[in-house]
Amino acid sequence: MAVNMQSKDLISIHDLTLEEVNQIFEVSKTLKQKQLIGEPHRVLEGKTLGMIFTKPSTRTRISFETGIYQLGGIGMYFGPNDLQLGRSESISDTAKVLSRYLDGIMIRTFAHQDVVDLADGASIPVINGLTDLLHPCQVLADLFTILEKKGKLKGLKLAYIGDGNNMAHSLLNGCSKVGMHISIASPSGYKPNTEIVNNAKKNAKYMGSKVEIFDDPVKAVRNADIVYTDVWASMGQEAEAAERRKKFMKYQVNPKLVKNAKDDYLFMHCLPAHRGDEVVNEVADSPNSVIFDEAENRLHVQKAIMALVM
Ligand code: CP
Ligand code: NVA
Repeated sequence: MAVNMQSKDLISIHDLTLEEVNQIFEVSKTLKQKQLIGEPHRVLEGKTLGMIFTKPSTRTRISFETGIYQLGGIGMYFGPNDLQLGRSESISDTAKVLSRYLDGIMIRTFAHQDVVDLADGASIPVINGLTDLLHPCQVLADLFTILEKKGKLKGLKLAYIGDGNNMAHSLLNGCSKVGMHISIASPSGYKPNTEIVNNAKKNAKYMGSKVEIFDDPVKAVRNADIVYTDVWASMGQEAEAAERRKKFMKYQVNPKLVKNAKDDYLFMHCLPAHRGDEVVNEVADSPNSVIFDEAENRLHVQKAIMALVM
C-alpha cells in the first residue's frame, strides 16, 4: 500500500494523474473490504490528523475522524473559534506551527486560496474537505460508488442539474479525468466556472469523452447513467436561498425529469439534501438512489487518501 502520490496534498482532482485516481480506488476497495471483515488495517498507527472547520459538517467530519481512528491514528477537531487563525494569526504561521505537531491537516473553509496557502506553508499533507470552489473528496467517493455499482467509469454519462458550485466543479474535474461524459444544466448566472469547464473539456477530449453545458435540464439528463444534484444555496449563501429557489425550480430532480435518463440510472447527491427543492422524495428514496452508499464511501475513500498522502 506504500505508494507515493506526486503531490504532497489533495486539494483538487485536477492535480491528480489518472493513475493516482485509480490507485485511490484500489486502496479504497481494499480498506473497505478489511473494515467489513473486521481485519485491522492500522497503517497510520500513532499519527495525528488536524481537522479545521470554518463551516458545518456531518459527513466530512465524522468520516475523517472515524477514518483516522480506524487507521490507528487520532483526529483533532478545530471549529471556527478554536484556533488563533480565527483571531487573525496568519495562515502561513499556522501552517508552519501545525506542521511541527501533526502528520496531516484536513480543512473545510470558504476561500479556496486559503487552502492553497495553507498547503504551501505546511510541510505536512493538506486535504481539501470542501471550499467554495471544490469538493474533491466527495467526488472521489462518488466516482468510487459509480465504479462499484456500474463496474466501470469510462464512457458513462453523468448529468448534473443545478447550481454551478463546488460540486459541479469537482464533478467536471473528476468525470473528465476518468473519461466519463458530463452534462450540466444550470440557470444563467449560475453556470460553472469557465476555466474549470474549459479545462475539463481539454481532459475529456484527451480521454474521448464530452463536456456539455445546457440551460435545459431535460437536454442534460437525456440518456444519462447518473443524475446528480446538490443544494441550490450552499453554505454561506443562506441569505440568497429564497431568490435562488425561484430561479432553480425548473431544475428540480423529480420523476418527470429522470424519465429522460436511462432506466437503470443512479441518482446521486452529496447531501445534505433539501427535499422538496432540488430533489423530491420519490427520486431520493427510489431504488435508483445510491445517496447513502455515497455517504458511506466517504469513509473508505478518505481512509485511502489519508493512507496514501500521510
Ligand atoms: N457531503 C458533505 O460534505 O457533507 P457534510 O457537509 O455533512 O460534511
Ligand atoms: N454545495 C454544498 C455542498 C455541501 C456538501 C455546499 O457547499 O454547501
